[in-house]
Amino acid sequence: MGFYADSLNRISPSATIAVSTKARELKAQGRDIIGLAAGEPDFDTPQNIKDAAKRALDENKTRYTDVDGIPELKAAIVAKFRRENGLTYKPSQVSVGTGGKQVLYNALMCTINPGDEVVIPAPCWVSYADIVMLGGGKPVFAPTTIENGYKLTPAALDAAINAKTKWFLFNAPSNPSGAAYTEAELKALTDVLMQPKNAHVWVLTDDMYEHLLYDGLKFFTPAQVEPRLYDRTLTMNGLSKAYCMTGWRLGYGAGPEPLIKAMCKLQSQSTSNPSSITQWAAVEALNGPQDFIPKHNKIFKERRDLVVSMLNQARGLKCPTPEGAFYVYPSCAGAIGKVSKSGVTIANDELFATTLLEEEGVAVVHGAAFAMSPAFRISYATSTKDLEDACTRIQRFCGNLR
Ligand SMILES: Cc1ncc(COP(=O)(O)O)c(C=O)c1O
Repeated sequence: MGFYADSLNRISPSATIAVSTKARELKAQGRDIIGLAAGEPDFDTPQNIKDAAKRALDENKTRYTDVDGIPELKAAIVAKFRRENGLTYKPSQVSVGTGGKQVLYNALMCTINPGDEVVIPAPCWVSYADIVMLGGGKPVFAPTTIENGYKLTPAALDAAINAKTKWFLFNAPSNPSGAAYTEAELKALTDVLMQPKNAHVWVLTDDMYEHLLYDGLKFFTPAQVEPRLYDRTLTMNGLSKAYCMTGWRLGYGAGPEPLIKAMCKLQSQSTSNPSSITQWAAVEALNGPQDFIPKHNKIFKERRDLVVSMLNQARGLKCPTPEGAFYVYPSCAGAIGKVSKSGVTIANDELFATTLLEEEGVAVVHGAAFAMSPAFRISYATSTKDLEDACTRIQRFCGNLR
């Protein structure tokens, strides 16, 4: 009998965290490294949010709170859903966790039984499949294509669903592809879920990148475009990305009360409440001025355009223009099978990424980590100068492949 739980063997460490750690290590050794692996904005947390945290400290709001959120924060979340998404929830339908990741984790752990399936459009965020597998479930990847901008089609969704499907785990704008959907495109997907044969499938929508949309695209969430899905949808969101609060650790979800209660029960036996100080900062983030978001988006859009244009000039790469988030997901199919300057045969996208890091000092995350190959993810939430430099290095790396 081994010491470690069998469930641990079902999962791998987060690839994005692994690449970021490796890039930091190389940098610490004095190497000239540009990290494009981390999924976090390079902007600082807005001052009014930091001030709210300082106030919370000074007012000694430093004790345990209700497990799944203080009433003031739940009220701010209820107001956010009404104001921005046209969704009506009671505070008892809201759960606050230590990051969106915990909210997802809670929801899946509370509902997955061995053999249950979760349909996930691929490419997808690294953690979804591992969390499902930790719970004994089976991730079922619904494929997308680069030609369709990595957007899921209704036919691919329908084909992935069967009697064992418990959840459809949706994420748009997407990490890693940046793909976002129009209202009509999203409605076409929710129509699939409204078919009587699919009535057992619940929707877990990860709206983490809601505010990071470009080219005038408007955000919609599944329960908004199809109100009949309200009773089987968990709408998840968080402050990490749009509010530049990755280190603060705060996410939230809203859905049917029994599910929220189950999630609270699990959280009460793991982490208990998210940091009290972070919760007070979150109240300010959601209720306070939102004007920094369009300012950041203008910069993100300029960087996106720069990166897409430069990557499409690299030999063997093909990069669609995504509508949201701060990622691009170029295909490197044209580089596979070629040999690098130092003699490495680029047999797959992992070798593409590791050789690029070794030869040119650019850290990207390989597509296999996101369940769609051969490709890689670049996070353009970094300075324009570094992006220009990194893309020039990528062009040189690709140009040197023989
Ligand atoms: C799609 C997606 N969902 C959830 C998360 C988790 O965010 P949080 O920092 O709130 O845990 C991330 C973070 O990278 C993400 O990209």
